[in-house]
Amino acid sequence: MRQKLVVGNWKMNGSLQANQSLLKELSAGITDACGVAVAVCVPFPYLAQAQALLAKTSLAWGAQNLSEKDSGAFTGEVAASMLRDFACRYVLVGHSERRTLYGENNALVAEKFAAALAGGLQPILCVGETLAERETGKTGEVVAKQVAAAIDRAGIAAFSKAVVAYEPVWAIGTGKTASSAQAQEVHAAIRAQVACADVKVAEGLQILYGGSVKPSNAAELFGMPDIDGGLIGGASLVASDFLAICQAA
Ligand code: G3P
Repeated sequence: MRQKLVVGNWKMNGSLQANQSLLKELSAGITDACGVAVAVCVPFPYLAQAQALLAKTSLAWGAQNLSEKDSGAFTGEVAASMLRDFACRYVLVGHSERRTLYGENNALVAEKFAAALAGGLQPILCVGETLAERETGKTGEVVAKQVAAAIDRAGIAAFSKAVVAYEPVWAIGTGKTASSAQAQEVHAAIRAQVACADVKVAEGLQILYGGSVKPSNAAELFGMPDIDGGLIGGASLVASDFLAICQAA
């Protein structure tokens, strides 16, 4: 049985002051009892604050990106080891905003996926199609290629230490959520693709849905057989909404 996982992706939002109250409200509202694993992926400058405020709680924390390099003359980059210095558990890799705005292709995302694992982090591999790709029936092909790049680079066993997040680009930040049937179809295809290489890894793989998840739609989405939780953007910045989504998992 896979544990449900709900991860908040704060994107480039927050302040020391706002984070203090948000993290305190989340810590108070989320206990082990809810049976759902919860994490927040915060901007790099706030990792120390997240570690200080969450270390004794059931919430985990992580980052939204990392370098594929271990160390060296890569100005502005952040290595996996540096994230481990702040006890990060997770790191997003290949979020669609990294892919579309910062030119991250499947090969680079696969390298980042491998670097996260090598650095002792759990990568959350983000995959998903654009509206044009969905409208031209390319969803399956696009997502399969994104997953295959990581499998080819890191091997299928790596997926026992990873999470996948399916985020249809056309649903991110738009309020246009994929239907639970649309999301389930892609989640099942991802699980089947992994199962072709290793059934056991596929059965244990947490596959999250992301893209306009709200308290009003979370329960239906999370009730689907291959949806193991969510990757939450905007709603993760509002304590009451994020807590409601976690409770729906
Ligand atoms: O990584 C999660 C994010 O892309 C989804 O954003 O605002 O649609 O929940 P949002």
